[in-house]
Amino acid sequence: MVFAPKVSQVFRLRSILPCRLFSSDSQSPSVIKSVAIVGQGLMGHGITQVSASSGKLTQVIAYEPKQEFLDKGKSRIENSIAKLVSKGRMTQEDANRTLGSIHFTTDMNALSNVDMIVEAIIENIDLKKSLYKDLNRVCKNDTIFASNTSSLSITDMAEISGRKEKFVGLHFFNPVQMMKLVEVIHTKYTDPLVFDKVFHWAGKEGIGKVAVKCGDTPGFIVNRLLMPYLIQAMLMVDRKDATVQDIDTSMLLGAGHPMGPLHLADYIGLDTCYYIVQGWVEKYPDESSFVLPQCLAEKVKAGELGRKTGKGFYYWDGEKVGKAVN
Ligand code: 3HC
Repeated sequence: MVFAPKVSQVFRLRSILPCRLFSSDSQSPSVIKSVAIVGQGLMGHGITQVSASSGKLTQVIAYEPKQEFLDKGKSRIENSIAKLVSKGRMTQEDANRTLGSIHFTTDMNALSNVDMIVEAIIENIDLKKSLYKDLNRVCKNDTIFASNTSSLSITDMAEISGRKEKFVGLHFFNPVQMMKLVEVIHTKYTDPLVFDKVFHWAGKEGIGKVAVKCGDTPGFIVNRLLMPYLIQAMLMVDRKDATVQDIDTSMLLGAGHPMGPLHLADYIGLDTCYYIVQGWVEKYPDESSFVLPQCLAEKVKAGELGRKTGKGFYYWDGEKVGKAVN
């Protein structure tokens, strides 16, 4: 016999069965309203800023365990906002609202009740795993964890997080304030409803970026294509095929890129490039496009990390790039 419920039975069933079975409600994921961004470095401060300036959230928390780093993140946000106001891209009113809506804290307990944590700390898997264990203790059960890692395995982090169904990758691009893309990464464990929530949050109904979906593969989409390209430019430097300036000019004028590859590597941070590539070389020794160029290793060893230290492939004066080094 076919089960054909009457209208009144359907309403009764709706209140008994989990709402996932009813497509009209279940397909519109509930909305992320509060976020905490852990780490206020080059990426984290930008994620905090775009979250706050979207005006779509009830709470944005910026967290760093040390006051010194929290203050540095805050002044980065202030500088960026001042730039946007001076260019007429943001009103003074929105600037005040954005800054005023961020709660800056060094107290991890303040993160206990947020809908989502976005982690943007240094690319070190042991540090990240230890952070996730602490966050799992502090945060409510349904807080989603999202990592902004450039290259580490989302699955590895999800497995130790204590909440692997609520763990995703959320990869932003530098400078976060200007770059429109966000990659949202799922693992085999990710609950599809959690993924949808994060995907919506990243897109125009949330912070206004363009979101793309990707599985947990090294470098996701952008870095898997971009890093081998930067590596090849550095290998040209190692072989002395061409000068730094000529390599960059070529890609600027011959391929229409906004920055040449060595300029871009300095801009991203040579330490970041190094850790991404080194991690891949160790984990995927048979992948021929993952190679560690000698010039990159030498510059990182010498503390010449590009924009952030004033010298890399170029000399830098704050945000302004200068002459190529030799
Ligand atoms: N905050 C606010 N405004 C900013 C800003 C910031 N942090 N950074 C730049 N701007 C603004 C400038 O004020 C300027 O505004 P205007 O157009 O009104 O004058 C505008 O952005 C353009 O900046 P600039 O004039 O300084 O220089 P460019 O025209 O070269 O643009 C750029 C800068 C947007 C960074 C452009 O060069 C570019 O798109 N470069 C490529 C960046 C890229 O590839 N990023 C991805 C790196 S990979 C990554 O991040 C992944 C990670 O995992 C490694």
